[in-house]
Amino acid sequence: MNEKHGFARAHTNIALLKYWGKINSDLILPANDSISLTLDKFYTDTEVTFSDEYTSNLFYLNHQLIDVKKMQRINRVLEAVKSEFGYQGFAKIESENHVPTAAGLASSASGMAALAGAAVSALGSHTDLTNLSRLARLGSGSASRSVFGGIVHWHRGYDHQSSFAEQIVSEDQIDLNMVTIVIDRRQKKVKSTLGMQHTASTSPFYPAWVEATNQAIPEMISAVQNNDFTKIGELAEHSAAMMHATTLSSKPAFTYFAPETIQAIKLVEQLRESGIECYYTIDAGPNVKVLCQSKNITRVKRFFASYFDQDQLVVAKPGSGIKFTKN
Ligand code: ADP
Ligand code: DP6
Ligand code: CO
Repeated sequence: MNEKHGFARAHTNIALLKYWGKINSDLILPANDSISLTLDKFYTDTEVTFSDEYTSNLFYLNHQLIDVKKMQRINRVLEAVKSEFGYQGFAKIESENHVPTAAGLASSASGMAALAGAAVSALGSHTDLTNLSRLARLGSGSASRSVFGGIVHWHRGYDHQSSFAEQIVSEDQIDLNMVTIVIDRRQKKVKSTLGMQHTASTSPFYPAWVEATNQAIPEMISAVQNNDFTKIGELAEHSAAMMHATTLSSKPAFTYFAPETIQAIKLVEQLRESGIECYYTIDAGPNVKVLCQSKNITRVKRFFASYFDQDQLVVAKPGSGIKFTKN
């Protein structure tokens, strides 16, 4: 039996300037550029085994066999990797999420980046990270950014070749941390793919969203390069608020917010007014992420501990790029 193994660990990322809508859903080309922070705390470990003897792809997530109908994106990534390396067998994928799946905590980012990484490393060399970013993008847009550590910029591009992510600064060059308030760990009702598609095609605010985000990109890049926490926080908070305004203005309107999401937003504003600088950001889910500098992590956590349970509060720091070994 001729088997080829590969392993990869990829961390999730939280967008500071968000990706929300595609111009090409087949290739996953986004309407706007986006910028994110890779997180050390949440990640996916994936092992891929290719074999001439398998008759189909098999996907185990957290030790459970997943229905083939849910494997479309996985199959796309595998097909793209196989065609690059001229391989024709099928694969067994064993993946473990150290992040809640489909809860708005970016499991698709770490999951698809780890899948692309493990598949590439099984069949050949994994040194071309730009190309790995393109392959991860075919699984989930946000995954293109999880190939790199620190702060990452995804260039929207106009075709497969031109749409990839690159690092702006590495994880040890930025003082930006995230206290996650886990409001709900359950899978969301409206997956990101569907939520953004509905928004892009029905919200009258959508063109303004795309324009505002693309305009903010150079501002965010210089804020990051200058380690200007205030500017990074203000731009990130505004991006999140605008994104959620597009879901509320779509037809029919919907929101990812839960009552506690609004409560947490108000608490962030209150804490900031009291002199502890912090900003919120929220992805496609009810969970709220609070951005702060290292010197304030303990204070921010202590403040939210009087409103939420300890186990709802998770601190994450800037994380590293993709790794091909466990340690
Ligand atoms: P999230 O907010 O967690 O990113 P999405 O709706 O964007 O939620 O994506 C969730 C989907 O990502 C899952 O339904 C699954 O298809 C895919 N996914 C999650 N984890 C993995 C993984 N480890 N490997 C491959 N795909 C994954
Ligand atoms: C709100 O990357 O999960 O987290 O490309 O359809 O898989 P697909 O969507 P996904 O969308 C992420 C949306 C977001 C913002 C972001 O991460 O930029
Ligand atoms: Co996702």
